[in-house]
Amino acid sequence: MDDFRARKRRRERITALTAYDYPTARLLDESGIDIILVGDSLGMVVLGYSDTTEVTLDEMLHHTRAAARGVKRALLVADLSAGTYETVEAATANARRLIDAGAQAVKLEGGASHTAQIAAIAAAGIPLMAHIGMLPQSVREEGGYKVKGRGSVEAERLLQDARSVEAAGAFSVVLEIVAADTARRITDAIGIPTIGIGSGEHCDGQILVTHDLIGLYPWFTPKFVSPEVHVAEEIRRAARIFIDRTRGSVC
Ligand code: KIV
Repeated sequence: MDDFRARKRRRERITALTAYDYPTARLLDESGIDIILVGDSLGMVVLGYSDTTEVTLDEMLHHTRAAARGVKRALLVADLSAGTYETVEAATANARRLIDAGAQAVKLEGGASHTAQIAAIAAAGIPLMAHIGMLPQSVREEGGYKVKGRGSVEAERLLQDARSVEAAGAFSVVLEIVAADTARRITDAIGIPTIGIGSGEHCDGQILVTHDLIGLYPWFTPKFVSPEVHVAEEIRRAARIFIDRTRGSVC
């Protein structure tokens, strides 16, 4: 984990993508990505839920085991799903379950409100990635995916969150949909790397949901993503070729 701080000091950008299964994790690992996240975005892009709040810890464990089989080199991080880290005891026990399933680090959503859980997980020897800004596990209370840290009050609160998670022992922090100026202020203010998603270019690293990057979830693409390829179209094309070939062949 010290390596990530050193990379921040050297201004080397950190790269992270999500994977929820063996082939994707193996392909990303072979591509040289630094961090693979078994994110609870799993709920939307793989399991077909409307948001991440329904994902269970058993589902996270199942997909963490699959992804872990494909990773030799990258750091494998797994999300603690909603409702699994309300207390310090639950947070530590459930983080341990993700590690036993093959993750090398865990992530949870929350800043100053969750320093007790972060400190307990870190004290148990489990590397922890924090996640502040837009918190998808709170999307129903928030009423949507909204930019965070626009006004000075919110920016100051996010800065405090970032300082709190660093002091509690997180080795890095995801900034999700944070106003670019605020993301830059946070990045300059703390010693652990910031990993941005929809938070501008001044973070120490960037993370994306792989399905968004490769166009594998065409029904919704976040505004801040430009897919590099359109895998969904390729699947439809291959399926149509197969259907036409099969129907056209003589029995
Ligand atoms: O669940 C997830 O994929 C995430 C990333 C968007 C950071 O938390």
